[in-house]
Amino acid sequence: MADLSSVYCGLTLANPLVASASPLTAELASAKQLQAAGAGALVLPSLFEESVRHDATLLNRYADKIKSYKDALDIPVIASLNGITEGGWLDHARSLEQAGCDAIELNIYYIAANAHESSDQIERRYIDLVYKLRAQIRVPIAVKLTHQFSSVAHLVKRLEDTGANGVVLFNRFYLPDIDVESMSVTPSLQLSHSSETLLRIRWIGLLRDQVRLSLAATGGMHNLDDLLKTLLVGADAVQLCSVLFEQGIDEMARLRDQLEDWLDRKGYDGVDAIKGLMSYGKAKDPSAFERANYLQVLEQNS
Ligand SMILES: Cc1cc2nc3c(=O)[nH]c(=O)nc-3n(C[C@H](O)[C@H](O)[C@H](O)COP(=O)(O)O)c2cc1C
Repeated sequence: MADLSSVYCGLTLANPLVASASPLTAELASAKQLQAAGAGALVLPSLFEESVRHDATLLNRYADKIKSYKDALDIPVIASLNGITEGGWLDHARSLEQAGCDAIELNIYYIAANAHESSDQIERRYIDLVYKLRAQIRVPIAVKLTHQFSSVAHLVKRLEDTGANGVVLFNRFYLPDIDVESMSVTPSLQLSHSSETLLRIRWIGLLRDQVRLSLAATGGMHNLDDLLKTLLVGADAVQLCSVLFEQGIDEMARLRDQLEDWLDRKGYDGVDAIKGLMSYGKAKDPSAFERANYLQVLEQNS
């Protein structure tokens, strides 16, 4: 039997499948179901900076939740903070660590909408946040990022140099929609599609040999092929969310079993044996990750 274990942010996961932050990890009952379905770890729903500002007791409740999860579960429990300023809210991260979380995922959900703010200023914001958080806590930090940066690779390297232990690629944007009848702006939340995996595959493949920190994929991971491709380009963990909403929590177990069967059938000892086999640095045709691929696709379709 293949060894499914994978080291992510210094934590040894029984397998690389992680339940990402969502209402599915919000209650102990469903968290237990996720563990029973074989989740390698889970990420709690985010504690939002804005919410903590309005109600400081939320932080204590979040810490209590971590304690109760740690008492009841064996898998790593990753707390999630979601915010954009270096304000006092980050000072409380230590209480989450004291409550026993195994790592903290920092989700910086920032829309660069100000025409007067430069890309350098925006990246500086990310670095400063991680710098401040690193000074508060000793547990691993994973930073959940969007893909909308001029240089994703450079930013990830800077985050690593600032003390991040991993990055989670990529956050999905929940885009505003327009209701043409009422002529109002309405928020829209749509579950992902497997085709979104390709963006993650490209960037994880490009990054794998340039940084040492852990790489997790989030966004569009729906089936065995998605998982395999992501691991082959170098992911250490694959986070699942939409697929669990669509197919139910037991899909986690099915995917884990399919991963094990595939590794056994192909004669690989385990997940480590395939991780990064097809990264940019190791691919037979690395140009496929870059611009050459663009020309080929255009030529094939002309
Ligand atoms: C209903 C819902 C709630 C979510 N809440 C959070 C959250 O609190 N914090 C966070 O970082 N991501 C949150 N996410 C994003 C997911 O963790 C995940 O990154 C995203 O859905 C992409 O993965 P998927 O394609 O597997 O759905 C949420 C997603 C959904 C659908």
